Amino acid sequence: MQIKQEFKDLIPPLTKEEFKQLENNCMSEGIREKILTWNGFIIDGHNRFEIATRWDLDYETESKHFDNEEAVKEWMILNQFGRRNLSNYQRSVLALELEDVFSKKAKERMLSGNPVLKSEQGRTIQKIGKVASVGKDTIAKVKKIQEKAPEEIKAKLRTGEVSINAAYKEIKKEEKKSEYKEKVLQERIETKISDNIKNGDSLKILETLEDGCIDVVLTDPPYGISYVSNRSMFDDAITKRGLLNDGKKEAFELLDKTCRILQRKTANNAHLYFFCSWGVFSDFEKIISKYFTIKTPIVWDKGNKGSGDLDNDWGNQTEIILYCVKGKKLVNTRRGNLISVARLHTSKMVHPTQKPIELLKEILKVSVTDGDFIVDPFMGSGSTIKAANELKYKSLGVELDSEMFNIANNFING
Ligand SMILES: C[S@@+](CC[C@H](N)C(=O)[O-])C[C@H]1O[C@@H](n2cnc3c(N)ncnc32)[C@H](O)[C@@H]1O
Repeated sequence: MQIKQEFKDLIPPLTKEEFKQLENNCMSEGIREKILTWNGFIIDGHNRFEIATRWDLDYETESKHFDNEEAVKEWMILNQFGRRNLSNYQRSVLALELEDVFSKKAKERMLSGNPVLKSEQGRTIQKIGKVASVGKDTIAKVKKIQEKAPEEIKAKLRTGEVSINAAYKEIKKEEKKSEYKEKVLQERIETKISDNIKNGDSLKILETLEDGCIDVVLTDPPYGISYVSNRSMFDDAITKRGLLNDGKKEAFELLDKTCRILQRKTANNAHLYFFCSWGVFSDFEKIISKYFTIKTPIVWDKGNKGSGDLDNDWGNQTEIILYCVKGKKLVNTRRGNLISVARLHTSKMVHPTQKPIELLKEILKVSVTDGDFIVDPFMGSGSTIKAANELKYKSLGVELDSEMFNIANNFING
């Protein structure tokens, strides 16, 4: 006697408890029912055969006649429906095994000069539903689930943890998302750039790009706080170096002008990230929201407190990153908005406000689709560009300060 996997697969597995119960019955009362075979293959009694072999129990067999394998399958499925208490999902999955059988029968009828009536066309699903005692909509949904759902969801459907409707809805949602992503990709405006870092004024350099070509902006503009840190004890420390355009008036004007240009240069569906300190949050918000929709801000947890009012304030160990959108570009994953990455030690920095590559990568991974174009108009050390290069994304970084640009060039390419 042999086991044919294709036949065995038509038997919905027993739960552990069901199998144990059957095993106990067989041990105490023997194997009362015959094991049925066709051409030497078991077609009914797989579990009993397994128990008999394990415990060396006697059993009887009976050979049944069928014209072909399809007929066997049809019989096996209907036999399961009669014997077992199966869920709608399990019944539908089993009945769907008959799809080929039904289509083959229809074809045979056609070839024998007895064409399928118009009214019969497309009725296979209905017939399958009848066999499974469920509606044709349920069969259509389960068919889709079988094609698209991951194994873990199918397992949950079998145990009843997830319903057919919920699994189907999830698949439709994912399909809609991919269709939308595809549409956004189709609309992408490709741009060619010779070098992906440029020394100059980003207001001018951004203007040289084609309208609508930027998919993601990740930038850390001057904050307008004349940034000079007192974190290092050494006067020649990198953190003691000031930034260009970091006076309040110039910084806010620069941000406004940059956003105005970016509004044209970004794609219809784009993501933009602006680093921002609490001190200028309301100013940044006012400026940026004129051009883009500000969504949930990201909080960067730097792991330890910064300097500041040591006696009368909380130690600030976070920085915010304003996540903004233009149109609707889907995120790759719905990540939580807290990112914990240790700030860089001063001795490791080549720029006074340098951001860690790991932090930038975490952000890019949420937004960037292969082939997207990322721009950082205020690249400083070039950290965004280094992160993008490491992830093999297409990017452009601009830095006004030529000394800093050379440092960035070494940092990125050195
Ligand atoms: C806050 S820093 C960026 C630091 C960067 N995120 C990093 O990780 O190194 C802002 C940078 O913008 C540059 N900058 C200021 N005005 C600019 C302009 N008009 N065009 C390009 N870069 C400019 C400054 O020189 C400074 O290096």
